[in-house]
Amino acid sequence: VQFFAESPCLKGKRALVTAGGTQEPLDPVRYLGNRSSGRMGFAIAQALQEAGAETILVSAPTDLPTPPGVTRVSVQTALEMHDAVLAEFNKLDVVVKAAAVADYRPASQAEQKIKKDGANRTIELVPNPDILAELGRRKTSQVLIGFAAETENLLAYAQEKMQRKNVNLLVANDVTKPGAGFGSMTNIVSFLFPDGRRIDFPQMSKLEVAKNLVAEIARLLG
Ligand code: CTP
Ligand code: CA
Repeated sequence: VQFFAESPCLKGKRALVTAGGTQEPLDPVRYLGNRSSGRMGFAIAQALQEAGAETILVSAPTDLPTPPGVTRVSVQTALEMHDAVLAEFNKLDVVVKAAAVADYRPASQAEQKIKKDGANRTIELVPNPDILAELGRRKTSQVLIGFAAETENLLAYAQEKMQRKNVNLLVANDVTKPGAGFGSMTNIVSFLFPDGRRIDFPQMSKLEVAKNLVAEIARLLG
């Protein structure tokens, strides 16, 4: 286990990180969202930039400041994130998909605020595209990093996602552990590789997790 990575050099490399939880509007004043703070993705963007990579941060709404030197692209929905990432993909060396992307969006968006009438209501949802899986199908030389935040069967689900999405490294994160997951300043993660290798880390700050991830990215880039 390495807690403190050496300083990797990513000069000349182009990286894109997604962060935050997408928001899927129901009407002009409401959306479906999730508990992602964006902190993990912002820390990764900072670490990539500090390692010398030209870094784009495609972020769903958060209260976090953009790390110095990082180019931020602000999006709200999964579809907007999809388009922003795909527009850059061919020019990139590394993509880190730390965002919590909504799996579904409301089938329609009301033009005016929905009024209550006291009756039960059903919201019809339609699936969003899986951005990471699409990158996994399209990738040529890019290094792809995925995340899996789980509440049970962490390693089995993470392993399945790594294969299904064709990523080079999957960061598995048990969000039920104290000191891990949404809203926390720290994380307890494992890195899984397609060759079966696994690194289990102790509780670390999200910036330490990010630095260890950047060290692995530098190795994967060769
Ligand atoms: N992801 C994505 N686009 C989506 C959903 C997820 O790019 N529409 C990415 C996430 O950014 C993350 C990885 O896929 O890097 C895993 O996300 P997760 O929600 O854990 O996996 P899902 O495939 O959506 O499976 P489920 O939510 O059913 O566990
Ligand atoms: Ca999901």
